[in-house]
Amino acid sequence: MSDSHEPQASDSGPPPLHGLLAEYRTPAELLRASKKVRDAGFSRWDTFSPFPVHGIDKAMGIKMTILPWIVLGAGLTGLATAILLQWWTNAYDYPWLVSGKPLWSIPANVPIMFELTVLFGGVTTFIAMLVLNNLPFPSHPLDHVRRFARATDDRFFLLIEAADPKFDETDTRALIDATHPIAVEGVPEDRKTSDKLPTGIIYSLVIVTVMSAVPFALAAKARYTKSRSTRVHIIQDMDSQPKYKAQRENPVFSDGRSTRLPDPETVAVGELREDDHFWRGQDHGAWVRTFPPTFRVDEAAMLRGQQRFGIYCTPCHGFGGEGNGMVAKRADELAQGTWTPPSNLTDERIRNMPVGEIFNTITNGVRNMPAYGPQIPASDRWAIILYLRALERGHAGKIADLEPAERTGL
Ligand code: HEC
Repeated sequence: MSDSHEPQASDSGPPPLHGLLAEYRTPAELLRASKKVRDAGFSRWDTFSPFPVHGIDKAMGIKMTILPWIVLGAGLTGLATAILLQWWTNAYDYPWLVSGKPLWSIPANVPIMFELTVLFGGVTTFIAMLVLNNLPFPSHPLDHVRRFARATDDRFFLLIEAADPKFDETDTRALIDATHPIAVEGVPEDRKTSDKLPTGIIYSLVIVTVMSAVPFALAAKARYTKSRSTRVHIIQDMDSQPKYKAQRENPVFSDGRSTRLPDPETVAVGELREDDHFWRGQDHGAWVRTFPPTFRVDEAAMLRGQQRFGIYCTPCHGFGGEGNGMVAKRADELAQGTWTPPSNLTDERIRNMPVGEIFNTITNGVRNMPAYGPQIPASDRWAIILYLRALERGHAGKIADLEPAERTGL
């Protein structure tokens, strides 16, 4: 009642009639009266009862509401929205293959289709019901009629509005009297109560509406801006976990390293490389001139060496080992002046080089040649040297190396 206005000057005088209210004792009387009013052709009238009265719709001539059709339309719109949204996001705008599953399939998308159908249908039912019933209706002239309070208890009422085109005070009253009500009362128009929604409710609705747009605005902003910081995590996922990365500073340890060094006295299984000859090409600090006893020199080793040489050495040193591989040729062509050509592996200096030193060259590299130890297992390095020795023999061959029969063939 705090919203009531002071009566204004122009409102003075008795208020106009809103309608005629008839009161009945039983539902049957109300039904009978309703049929009469319906047949008289009134359109702006209503009945009020403490509980639903069976057959009142028919007695009043109320047609079926169009609400179900509106809800059906909303549900189908929700369904179409779900199909379009999922197809557009998953199969069209941002196709993302998960375990070879199809980008678009009906069964996988049914939950959202169901949800949006129900959501659109439900929300529309609520809003359309309010609109169709002219709600919210914060004030009504009947609110001020004392006897009308019994409409919630044990009495049945019928109201014909004065705004009805068929309404005529005396004729309508006569019609109502003929239905034998226990009372008939003229209901005056209510000029005191505002029929507007309380401002508090209006402001709350506006604020809620504006706030519901905030998440969408934030999502839109995130699409067009960049940030180096991770997104706000209300629930900590595993994509952002506190940890120290290798090579980073770590205050937990006194040496400040994140990566822990292996204990200097420990050796991993199979890593105890005591055989200097095989693993380092050395014997008491001097380069060895023989192949290690554990390395079997046979045809298989030679073929293996040829193959590995082809893979690892020819790009620079060439198939003949003369230092004319593809990399060397290309570097010559570019002629940038910073290139150190690969050595000719068949010249005398390398021919006289101890196998241990060549082994060391392959393992650790030399001057401008990179190390190949990490890529080629030790036994393969020895096989490569075996093949290299054969290459050198081919280059430094003398006529005396040939069998007498072969010599005559030249
Ligand atoms: C990326 C190119 C490249 C590859 C691949 C390469 N080398 Fe070399 N190698 C060089 C260069 C360049 C030199 C000369 C380095 C210098 O004198 O600075 C060289 C030098 C050498 C020498 C002479 C070392 C010395 O002390 O003079 C030997 C022996 C040798 N390479 C063997 C090999 C073997 C065996 C392979 C295959 C496992 C190989 N290289 C693969 C570029 C290569």
